Amino acid sequence: MRIATSVLLLLPLAHPLLALKAHDFKTCSQSAFCRRGRALAERAPTAGSSWHSPYTIVPSSVALSSSASSFTSSVKSELYPDINFELEVRIHEDGVVRVRMDEVKGLRKRYDEASSWALVREPSLKNVKDVKWVKGKNEVKGVYDDVEVRVQYQPLKVSLWKGGREEVVLNGKELLHMEHFRVKEEKKEPETAEGGAEQAEQAVLQAPARPTAWFEGEEEDGLWAESFSTWTDQKPKGPESLSLDIHFPGHANVYGIPQHASPLSLPTTTGPSPHYTDPYRLYNLDVFEYLADSPMSLYGSIPFLHAHSAESTVGIFNAIASETWIDVSHPTEDSTLTHWVSESGILDVFLLPGPTPEDVFKQYARLTGTSAMPAHWALGYHQCRWNYISSEDVRSVQKRFDEDDFPLDVLWLDIEYSEEHKYFIWDAKNFPDPVAMVNDVAALGRKMVVIVDPHLKRVSTYPVYEKAKELDVLVKGRDGKEEYEGWCWSGSSAWVDFFHPGSWDWWKSLFRLTDGKDKDSWRWVDSTENVHIWNDMNEPSVFNGPEITMPKDNVHYGGWEHRDIHNINGMLFQNLTSQAITTRGSTPKRPFVLSRSFYAGSQRLSAIWTGDNMGSWEHMAVGIPMVLSNGIAGMTFAGADVGGFFGNPDPEMLVRWYQVGIFAPFFRAHAHIDTKRREPYLLEEPHKSIVRDVIRLRYSLLSVWYTSFRRANADGVPILRPHWVMFPKDKKGFAIDDQYFIGDSGLLVKPVTKPGATETQVYIPEDQVYYDYFTYNAYRGSAAGKTITVSSPLEKIPLFIRGGSIVPTRARPRRSSPLMKKDPFTLTVALSQAELATGELYLDDGESFDHQKGDLVWRKFDAWTLKAAKRTRMTLKSSDMTKSGQTVVDGSLVAPGAYRADNAYAKSVQSVRVEKLVILGLPKKPTTVIVQGVAQKEGWTWEGGVAADGKKEGGASVLVIKNPNLKIVDDWLVEVEF
Ligand code: GLC
Repeated sequence: MRIATSVLLLLPLAHPLLALKAHDFKTCSQSAFCRRGRALAERAPTAGSSWHSPYTIVPSSVALSSSASSFTSSVKSELYPDINFELEVRIHEDGVVRVRMDEVKGLRKRYDEASSWALVREPSLKNVKDVKWVKGKNEVKGVYDDVEVRVQYQPLKVSLWKGGREEVVLNGKELLHMEHFRVKEEKKEPETAEGGAEQAEQAVLQAPARPTAWFEGEEEDGLWAESFSTWTDQKPKGPESLSLDIHFPGHANVYGIPQHASPLSLPTTTGPSPHYTDPYRLYNLDVFEYLADSPMSLYGSIPFLHAHSAESTVGIFNAIASETWIDVSHPTEDSTLTHWVSESGILDVFLLPGPTPEDVFKQYARLTGTSAMPAHWALGYHQCRWNYISSEDVRSVQKRFDEDDFPLDVLWLDIEYSEEHKYFIWDAKNFPDPVAMVNDVAALGRKMVVIVDPHLKRVSTYPVYEKAKELDVLVKGRDGKEEYEGWCWSGSSAWVDFFHPGSWDWWKSLFRLTDGKDKDSWRWVDSTENVHIWNDMNEPSVFNGPEITMPKDNVHYGGWEHRDIHNINGMLFQNLTSQAITTRGSTPKRPFVLSRSFYAGSQRLSAIWTGDNMGSWEHMAVGIPMVLSNGIAGMTFAGADVGGFFGNPDPEMLVRWYQVGIFAPFFRAHAHIDTKRREPYLLEEPHKSIVRDVIRLRYSLLSVWYTSFRRANADGVPILRPHWVMFPKDKKGFAIDDQYFIGDSGLLVKPVTKPGATETQVYIPEDQVYYDYFTYNAYRGSAAGKTITVSSPLEKIPLFIRGGSIVPTRARPRRSSPLMKKDPFTLTVALSQAELATGELYLDDGESFDHQKGDLVWRKFDAWTLKAAKRTRMTLKSSDMTKSGQTVVDGSLVAPGAYRADNAYAKSVQSVRVEKLVILGLPKKPTTVIVQGVAQKEGWTWEGGVAADGKKEGGASVLVIKNPNLKIVDDWLVEVEF
């Protein structure tokens, strides 16, 4: 209570602590550039045939380069003949097309650095000398394999064709507009005194019509300043917004552009009866108690969109960092029109040609990188609360977990660990012994995560603030000189400008564990290598700022306004902290840094979560499409607060929420300071035991998660796979977002998110057998897709193994994941209708970077059946996956020759056994079970039931081979004859 009161006292009234106040956040109609952009789109169709894009390419300026694979030209706008633009179109090695347009020799420079933060490297143009440029009368075609880009001169239009089909069109609807920099015209104030109003009216009547009015509208709407609530955004640079239509002529479904609490398949925002009346907004904001179905902005923004049809998938990455609104409509049943309106920046759009969802993931990963290979422990259970109030509290929570046998990997500390919210500085009264406390937690292989927010309390007793001031690396106010002051948890605060290179080494040095030579530089010496970090409030959240964030006219390094870089801001904070944690100890370790804010490229760093959700069934349910949507936009290491941040979920809701939580890549329970304690050991029976089993299920599947992370790390294919990704041709699955697959494992889950549910409907998309994970009941789908009804009482999660999969699990309940390192494996072989199965298992030390040198174990499991006249034989084989030449980790090949089967890690786990083989769906009781050539008289059991290769449903046949005396690191063969 002490803490709750002190926190509340610190809060200025502006913070919407009690409920979402929609009026704290802008709608499109309250944002001048969005209003202008939408009005432009509304004018276009009503103008009929006279409507045309004012932008044209100057034919004489066209320059084509095969070696650089580029097209460049000047672009003119008939609206402003004196203004010049330059267009560049490039084709990358993998067929991705980049389209850039900027104003040249304008009054100012537009912000053009978004891509340099988002891209992992400059895209490769190595082989694209093969691009053939063909000049026509009004267009140029660039042809490269089956990708073709067409650049039309008048009106300006760029389109991507693949396999002879038009896939993406830029400016096909002629809404492109790049507002150029201009000088503010001083308007003559109408004479006052008598007759003032009349004279003013006269002046308006006599004012010449704007020559650009047909395109830009009659009025100059909010070009030079705009107000929202009590704030005025002075726009010293004037208008510079960007409008662009992107049309997908053959794709009826679009996904991505997270983060929004909305369905995965994005509903319409314009056109006849739109689902939402506002466009999707990308502007990182701290939206307290957000709505569970809304296109409103949330904490992170990834301007990456997939457009999908049964024929193909394509992607759009619009490298823009300023506030952006996106309208979605369907001009025809099988097409989608999107209209993007951004406040500032250049046009820098990447067109990803697909043609499959997997291709698009890989193309996007080549641009922005793949997700970091996480520390293995970070996939375990995280217990958080605002706040564990003292070291004794931390110790007692850990003790209760152990007494009640709940697995746990990480204990978290929220802002109250710090003295007056001066992050890093322990509150000595309640945390007198931080290092001893962390060591007690670490004794069982566990870690702690401690919060470090980006707002620095402005007091001379805070060495971090003092040093930032001395280094002159704080964000500046609108005059570009004085540090910006705003309010956050720490009261009057300043913000480090992570765009300032002068902040980088200093920020990293703060996390070093030993005093440096430089005695005036403060370091976090009362911490340990077992402390990892939570970076919150990094949108940034400013309680007394417009829309709870920074004023847009604040100034960052290089003179850029906050409006130019807003959506990247949070990513840089997480980036620097991740680097700091990686290099803090004697040897580099994989960092865990949870961020609330994110942008394209954040996946390279660590995890994010979906922010301050509510303890309601709606929020539990929408968390699933939110995590799926983040995943398909690269940000795959994501999860929602289990239990809901606000409110007091009843035991049923809490149980169901844990069942959702264990199937997200990031699994953390968290709660607001005013909620009742709800650690799982506080539950009564039967809920307590159910939750224990649920968390244990997560732990038994950790190697499935880890193996899926390896894949995401290698090529960007997300860990959670929605239906349209798994079955791109099955139209019935395109809108499904409440059930999904985990990596390549073959596990299909449909968490229950409704109260009182005892049954659940599950969609089986193919003619295949699916086994209930727990009972081994066999269900059948159909080629046309089939919905089955399964029983799902409180203790039951609808979880299935797709026929054809081999799933490695570990059954020993442990207190933390590092204690499982030497535990034996069970392999469940779920035969397909064709009596085949395959699976894989990836392992490494889970914390260093030695896997990049080849210290890893990567196994492939295959099962197949051969029928002969007299007998049938099923073979199960374990082989070294690295021999398949696919040793891809961290997006790059392990150096040739670096991998050896007897590497140091493999040796450290060479004693790890396979303790059980479970084979589902064999047609008959075996006559012989042969392990490594030796027939087993005993040690196996058979339970008859439904065979994989038939049409029957019901309990599957189960063959269990116990203790086959096999090692997980070895090559081996098991044969079953019947
Ligand atoms: C923000 C975070 C929340 C955290 C709180 C206090 O609301 O989203 O998770 O507990 O701040 O730090």
